[in-house]
Amino acid sequence: MNAPNTISLKPYNTFGFDVHCREIHTLNHKTELRTFFESGLFARNPKIISGGSNLLLTQNIDVPVIVNRIKGISISRETEEHLYLSFGAGEPWHESVMYAVEHNWGGMENLSLIPGCMGAAPIQNIGAYGVELKDIFHELKAFNIQTGLFETFGLEDCKFGYRDSVFKNEKKNQYVITEVCLKLDKNPQIRTQYGDIQAVLDAQNLSEITIADASRAVIHIRQSKLPDPAEIGNSGSFFKNPVISAEQAAALQSQYPGLKSFPQNDKETKIPAAWLIENAGWKGFRRGEVGVHAKQALVLVNYGKGTGAEVHQLAQDIREDVRQKFNITLDFEVNIW
Ligand code: EPU
Repeated sequence: MNAPNTISLKPYNTFGFDVHCREIHTLNHKTELRTFFESGLFARNPKIISGGSNLLLTQNIDVPVIVNRIKGISISRETEEHLYLSFGAGEPWHESVMYAVEHNWGGMENLSLIPGCMGAAPIQNIGAYGVELKDIFHELKAFNIQTGLFETFGLEDCKFGYRDSVFKNEKKNQYVITEVCLKLDKNPQIRTQYGDIQAVLDAQNLSEITIADASRAVIHIRQSKLPDPAEIGNSGSFFKNPVISAEQAAALQSQYPGLKSFPQNDKETKIPAAWLIENAGWKGFRRGEVGVHAKQALVLVNYGKGTGAEVHQLAQDIREDVRQKFNITLDFEVNIW
């Protein structure tokens, strides 16, 4: 007889959904992967969680859950200009950013305050304020759960795209990422091209701007718009910003002159999903214990007693409404289990 679903996953997902599983295995060191492999754990299709910050749990989980808590930060290589810093996959992302900022190693500062852990960052190529993980990525090490061997993935191997990588596509569910190595600048460049950061820094009238200032500006902007998962359950942007044809974007912009767009190439333009959701009337909408955040329409929230199935239904209703009103289909950014 199978053990009942008795272990709550509430502490393991930033939405705070109280779904249950039967067994959890904590991975503290990469050598434990061999034991897991030999015990047949990987043949039972386990689910892997690290920070649980990009995850919508809609039901109890019947397969084993592995929680990746591999820690450690070390310098793997240094040149005159760059520092190659390796992080265990279970290192919390924001603490890792703070570590680099304190040492004045540049590159991660615009990605301050993103929830989650290091190992999940490459899977969806996290990004914010004009920087994506791919811009600072050197390589990662991952355990192949079919062969039981470790493999190294360089920049090209990861096939990074907008909130996308090989680990969300052809190599999905086949690897446990154990270590991520980032290439940081010893002489940091401040990247303030994303308007909001420059505006916050201008208001401070600083004579010289450091990466610590840029990091503080990003933290300030994020705190003013995005709910803290410790207070209101959420998983950041629930939807991806859609890439549509330049023609369709031009038509929309002539109708709605306030609509921002980010050309990707001659033919395609990315537009803010938050704008579509807000203009379809959903910003601040609440249905029972779940809703759309009042300050950022991309973020769906759990006010406390909501369920993943309710958020999933809300997301589908928003997607359908946006499709009907704007003829644009929104993709989900979060993983739905
Ligand atoms: N906007 C609205 N309504 C809103 C919010 C935004 O109309 O409620 C419009 C405004 O025109 C605004 C534009 O959307 O100028 C862009 O807004 P914002 O700068 O907040 O960025 P975003 O496109 O909504 C993306 C990322 C965020 C990231 C920010 C900042 C995605 C799916 N989201 O949001 O990432 O922090 O840019 O770089 O790409 C995440 O992935 O979890 C996440 C929070």
